Amino acid sequence: MPIRTQIVGWGGYLPRKVVTNNDLSEKLDTSDEWIYSRTGIKQRHIAAEGEVSSDLATIAAQRALAKAEMTPDDVDMIILATVTPDNTFPATAARVQAKLGMTRGVAFDIGAACAGFIYAASQAKNYIETGYAKTVLVIGVETFSRIIDWDDRRTAVLFGDGAGAVVFKGVEDNGDALSRGIISYEIHTDGRLYDILRTQGGPSETSTVGTLTMDGREVFRHAVGKLVDVAESLLKKANVTIDDIDWVIPHQANARIISATGERLGISPEKTAITVDKHANTSAASIPLALMEMGDKIKPGDLVFIEALGAGLVWGGMLIRW
Ligand code: UT7
Repeated sequence: MPIRTQIVGWGGYLPRKVVTNNDLSEKLDTSDEWIYSRTGIKQRHIAAEGEVSSDLATIAAQRALAKAEMTPDDVDMIILATVTPDNTFPATAARVQAKLGMTRGVAFDIGAACAGFIYAASQAKNYIETGYAKTVLVIGVETFSRIIDWDDRRTAVLFGDGAGAVVFKGVEDNGDALSRGIISYEIHTDGRLYDILRTQGGPSETSTVGTLTMDGREVFRHAVGKLVDVAESLLKKANVTIDDIDWVIPHQANARIISATGERLGISPEKTAITVDKHANTSAASIPLALMEMGDKIKPGDLVFIEALGAGLVWGGMLIRW
């Protein structure tokens, strides 16, 4: 019998410290009005000194496993999406594996920036449906506060720290009408656009971590067009229409990108998750954190579409029957 990749648990963690737009405007030439009207962001969470990505990720993972009524011993594989690892190497996933108390399995990182969760979830599907793993823990985690130039108002106001985790489990497809699980995904990369969103510096180029720079307008322009294309392509291949979608969980970079994409696709805002106001852009963590915020609003059998675009450029979408 074919195997389907189902979501059986999810959870998230946000650092305790909250920084509002007004807090930022005390140090930067910016304002709550500018930030909110251009991005929809009101506040962001920032990791405490000494609190690292693996700390955030471990708590999110524990919450997702509790929701799934599973223990770390049930996990065969951890795929952790991040571009802000604890160290250049080893993989942060290995540290999370140890912090969870796991003594077997495989753990590795994926660096696909803001599309990291979709890249990682697509790998979970591949490993599960080829029979290599039964239970895969996918984590998206970032501590962008550590790679931000806090004197650059164009980028400092946009990002936040956080972690989200989802437990995927392989279940035999019993042929019922719902056929719950990941239906399909698409992931894309266009490295010609490497420079429009990147860190200036990095271990190999400058022996430093580097700080983030972005041509915001260019990223915005590519985001709307590419996300609409990916949605239309996935819907067509799955033989469903936009009206069949119950929930859209977009990457949370900017409320204007989310609404422009939604308008072009004809999705009602009531079906669309918005957390950018509270979390800002948490990169790979934003989709699983939004899933956490949706809570039990999503019902078994609902059709869910997730989509994201980020540095690379990388982008993609995924259709899931909840
Ligand atoms: O996760 C994927 C990665 N990121 C994204 O998806 C982000 C995509 N891009 C965006 O969200 C938007 O382009 C931004 C929010 C980054 C910027 O909005 P914009 O409407 O494209 O503004 P802009 O960059 O064209 O800047 C307009 C003006 C500039 O002033 P001048 O040159 O017109 O005098 C900026 O210097 O706004 C100024 N500005 C600010 N003013 C107050 C830029 N940042 C700020 C700020 N506060 N924080």
